[in-house]
Amino acid sequence: MIMKKYGLIGYPLSHSFSPGYFAEKFKKSEITDCRYDLYPLTEIVEFDDIKDCLGINVTIPYKEQVIAYLDELSVEAETIGAVNTIKYIDGKRIGYNTDAYGFTKSLSPLWDGKAQPERALVLGTGGAARAVWYVLDQLGIAYKKVSRTKGDITYGALDKKLIEEHHLIINTTPVGMSPHADACPDLPYEGISADHYLYDLVYNPEKTLFLSRGESNGAVIKNGHQMLELQADRSWEIWNS
Ligand SMILES: NC(=O)c1ccc[n+]([C@@H]2O[C@H](COP(=O)([O-])OP(=O)(O)OC[C@H]3O[C@@H](n4cnc5c(N)ncnc54)[C@H](OP(=O)(O)O)[C@@H]3O)[C@@H](O)[C@H]2O)c1
Repeated sequence: MIMKKYGLIGYPLSHSFSPGYFAEKFKKSEITDCRYDLYPLTEIVEFDDIKDCLGINVTIPYKEQVIAYLDELSVEAETIGAVNTIKYIDGKRIGYNTDAYGFTKSLSPLWDGKAQPERALVLGTGGAARAVWYVLDQLGIAYKKVSRTKGDITYGALDKKLIEEHHLIINTTPVGMSPHADACPDLPYEGISADHYLYDLVYNPEKTLFLSRGESNGAVIKNGHQMLELQADRSWEIWNS
């Protein structure tokens, strides 16, 4: 049987979610002619050595660097400036960004019929933040970029009043991720109330300190697990359409 090849590039890849997710998907759906492999690349130039694949996912640190190797980009990938999914078709390599899809589909149910929040704080200014800014722009939610050194505002300048004025707070930093689960973004958490929605792109641990501190003050919380599954499913749809 000729196997259809898919995989993930990045470095390091030891704790990746995608291989287990696709192995489970293939098993559940009784797909026996597909494989999903890890390609830990120490340098992005090694990307050209990958042959005979139908689709590739991209993770840290190559979501931006890989763009130079692609023939075309989807509108989303181009606007965001980051690619996490590549489709090989007709000798071309086309880049997509499914993080934005995963984030938007997992975010909106949070309001649960209530009005969408008007203002957000986005913590961090990396690749994941760029997908989040794109989605907030699409949804018409105004936001401030919170950063240690750049963006609209630093953590030191965030006071209780600013927290009270921004009902959606999204953590796109790795702060609080296992094994550093005792850390959380440096915020005046006393400003968080039952009017707030806290979304953490981190999914390990399931409830980060950021989320548990928000929940203690009554906020609606969500981690990045569903986003991760949705972006993987969307990649699969793109490869098979
Ligand atoms: N759930 C999902 O589907 C999903 C998808 C993509 C990413 N993620 C997760 O999202 C997180 C960020 O991913 P990324 O690719 O954007 O990573 P990244 O580029 O390495 O980091 C994001 C930003 O976090 C801030 N940051 C980094 N270390 C920090 C620290 N010690 N203290 C405070 N801020 C810090 C930085 O912004 P400043 O320099 O501006 O402060 C940095 O640009 C990761 O944990 C990743 O696993 C989840």
